[in-house]
Amino acid sequence: MEYANQLESTINDMVQKGRGVLAADESAPTIAKRFKAIDVESTEENRRAWRSLLVTTKGLGEYISGIILFEETLSQKTDDGQTIPEAAWAQNIVPGIKVDKGKVPLALSPGDLITQGLDGLADRLRIYKQQGARFAKWREVYSIDKHAPTQHGIKANAEMLARYAAACQAEGLAPIVEPEVLMDGSHDINRHAEVTEAVQHAVFHALHRHHVVLELMILKPNMVLPGKDCRRAEPDEVAAATLKVLKRTVPAAAPSINFLSGGQGPEEATANLNAINQQGADAPWNLTISYGRALQQTALQAWRGKKENLAAAQQALLKRARLNHLAMLGEYQPEMES
Ligand code: 13P
Repeated sequence: MEYANQLESTINDMVQKGRGVLAADESAPTIAKRFKAIDVESTEENRRAWRSLLVTTKGLGEYISGIILFEETLSQKTDDGQTIPEAAWAQNIVPGIKVDKGKVPLALSPGDLITQGLDGLADRLRIYKQQGARFAKWREVYSIDKHAPTQHGIKANAEMLARYAAACQAEGLAPIVEPEVLMDGSHDINRHAEVTEAVQHAVFHALHRHHVVLELMILKPNMVLPGKDCRRAEPDEVAAATLKVLKRTVPAAAPSINFLSGGQGPEEATANLNAINQQGADAPWNLTISYGRALQQTALQAWRGKKENLAAAQQALLKRARLNHLAMLGEYQPEMES
């Protein structure tokens, strides 16, 4: 593979015990939703200010090894005039880019979704690489219902993830492969486990068919949880169910599993990660984060779009990053929150 050395050094920079990834790659509609909750308008300047605040948080690099950016952010600048990718590097954080173009219904397959963006992907990857991105992310989404996702939907989504990952490796960007089984709904934890297992199985089968080198990618899965409208599960139960599914489906060659937070509260996501690391101390992979909401939520609340709140927002972000760092080591305790 032409870019094996580049990919290897990106993975080495990103996969380190006690560090994880910050997902700051919200699409235009998603960031508008997050800003609306704090009464901030989603203008280009506000998005720049927010993402500049995140990436320039002093000390963030101690706990965060990679940041996923949105296309627009790659060329935006911090208040000090550095590009956002340069500011990330200055903190020892590898900049990456979300490259999928969002989900649509899978035609003729009610309940299944599929992500778009493969057309012209190689050309876009070359441009993103010139702009400083060293890794990419693509998310497939699976919504649980009585008859969904279907076997056909699971296969079609796996094929997309594998084609994306192969294209990334061919261009020298390390792929983050994200199959997200949503936690929306009233299903129990067993149903979430069953679907997650089928999804992961299909994903790794497809990655194999498409010659993706597992050592040179990162998996970003959901944790196994009960649906939002079902009873809550304790961290130990979540950890046991999650590790059981991953041990059955993810080859030991994959270096790192970076969980998404998927709508869990910040403290819940940290406590669950901690239990996963305690129970998974013997697991072959690094077990860490690629959180969006669970890292940003408290910082957004502190910021509210106001310059004078910058320091408080950065402090809130750093606190969540540090507590998740402790959870990566299995050393987090809920009392540390106060
Ligand atoms: P959440 O952690 O908010 O689920 O976001 C992660 C992500 O990147 C979703 O694609």
